[in-house]
Amino acid sequence: MEVAIHASEAEACRDAARQIAALICRKPDAVLGLATGRSPLGVYAELIRMHRNDGLDFSRATTFNLDEYVGLRPSHPSSYNHFMWTNFFDHINVNPARVFLPSGTVEGRDVEGFCQRYEAEIARAGGIDMQILGIGSDGHIGFNEPGSSLASRTRIKTLTARTRQDNAPYFQTIEEVPYHVITMGVGTIMDARSVLLMAFGTSKAKAVGGCVEGAISAALPASILQMHPRAIILLDEDSADCLSRKDYYRWVLDHKPAWQHSSLGRSRSGEDGPSAIPAPERLRKAVDGSGTGNTD
Ligand code: F6R
Repeated sequence: MEVAIHASEAEACRDAARQIAALICRKPDAVLGLATGRSPLGVYAELIRMHRNDGLDFSRATTFNLDEYVGLRPSHPSSYNHFMWTNFFDHINVNPARVFLPSGTVEGRDVEGFCQRYEAEIARAGGIDMQILGIGSDGHIGFNEPGSSLASRTRIKTLTARTRQDNAPYFQTIEEVPYHVITMGVGTIMDARSVLLMAFGTSKAKAVGGCVEGAISAALPASILQMHPRAIILLDEDSADCLSRKDYYRWVLDHKPAWQHSSLGRSRSGEDGPSAIPAPERLRKAVDGSGTGNTD
């Protein structure tokens, strides 16, 4: 696990965006696992900027989203489908045929079949190369709430009262927040070849502490990422507040060999600063600088 504590959310988002861009340069038909919510918004904004200004090309990429609310049509303003199109897909050149999200309208007996097909679709695409994650204040990843099986696959889950409360600002009233979601399972997430988890603000500090330094337990599903061979945790100072080994995490990043910089915003040479990516050649260069990270 690599923990990168950035000075600001904006800096962490640029770091994440550069890692995704580097993957797409290296593998234009990359398969991305995507998240909704507040945490990845800055990443999507930066990727849109790179697409417009630097020619970052998504035309061969495939995307799978983590989750969707049960009962919401894709056009519903609070659906995750709507979120992804308005905040990201509408502004890049992704092929709509390669965009996959769990259905919010599948019901009853069809749910299980849908979930199996979603898993099969991920496998058919060759598996997820990089999974973007936020973390719930209760430690969920995707909508795998505390107590979720750490081996779970895509399925229907019931949100906790706390998560419904946390997500209420995206709805007119809390009564409108669905109780159920379809979410990739913890096992589905763990199958991704790399994982980028982002967390910002004091409300995430406790969950981040449990994820990075706590015991691995279904009581805090994100803690399973300690078992992932290539998990990168991107934080701001506030969300890192409960970590006891902050100095060591900084030390690791500051003393990486240049070729190992997976957290591109922290290059010792200074050459990889977030403002230094104006052109496709720079995107290519980012690939060179984002090889194997010190992530286990
Ligand atoms: C969203 C998702 C959730 C969120 C988490 C954090 O697709 O799967 O796990 O990542 O609830 O949400 P924010 O980023 O809004 O704090």
